[in-house]
Amino acid sequence: MKSDSLYVDLHHVRKCFGKDEILKQLDFQMIRGQVYGIIGNNGSGKTVLMKCICGFLPVTEGTVIVGGKYIGKEIDFPESLGVIIETPGFLASLSGRRNLEILAGLRGNLTGADITAILHRVGLDPDLKKPVAKYSLGMRQRLGIAQALMENPELLILDEPFNGLDRHGVEEIRTLLLAEKEKGKTILLASHNTEDIQVLCDHVFEMDGGVMRKR
Ligand SMILES: Nc1ncnc2c1ncn2[C@@H]1O[C@H](COP(=O)(O)OP(=O)(O)O)[C@@H](O)[C@H]1O
Ligand SMILES: [Mg+2]
Repeated sequence: MKSDSLYVDLHHVRKCFGKDEILKQLDFQMIRGQVYGIIGNNGSGKTVLMKCICGFLPVTEGTVIVGGKYIGKEIDFPESLGVIIETPGFLASLSGRRNLEILAGLRGNLTGADITAILHRVGLDPDLKKPVAKYSLGMRQRLGIAQALMENPELLILDEPFNGLDRHGVEEIRTLLLAEKEKGKTILLASHNTEDIQVLCDHVFEMDGGVMRKR
């Protein structure tokens, strides 16, 4: 393994909430351009792990390095990151498009045409005026995926991205994620559906009580 291809490197990561030890001395590496899946029961620590990689939660012990930089020390968040964690929060009174425009405006490097294109890619109507409050769970999930992909990040952290989608929706989003994989993205995917994981992932791990095992 060449060290320059190492993109995410967790060393001896522990995460505790009070006396509860959620992640136990966890070591986990991701190679650039590969897709990693985590399966595991509810409450096993998948989301906490993802939040630690994203810099949303500080680790109790150990180190998280993404793209060669220490998270929480050298940088607060990974530099080129797209993320969907659980059900994404949007401004409910605004349309999906307006939500993406606001998020894109925070960085200011996307055009209206880019937003139209990403809404098409996730299977949402770019001209839909309906507020997000009236979206189904599947539509919100699609919007969440649009938000994660729209700035073309190198690293994708996708927590239960198939939540709320019907069979057809799952197929569409799988195809879309396969296209991201083809583009060379580094992807971490958590799901409790083994089939989704097996289709997409180069490496599969099982989280069990805060310990990760290769499958
Ligand atoms: N902010 C928090 N404060 C306290 N406990 C938490 C917090 N976030 C998660 N936990 C606990 O950590 C454990 C793992 O949660 P989580 O990572 O969400 O599980 P999974 O995503 O595998 O279903 C659970 O017991 C949960 O209650
Ligand atoms: Mg979770």
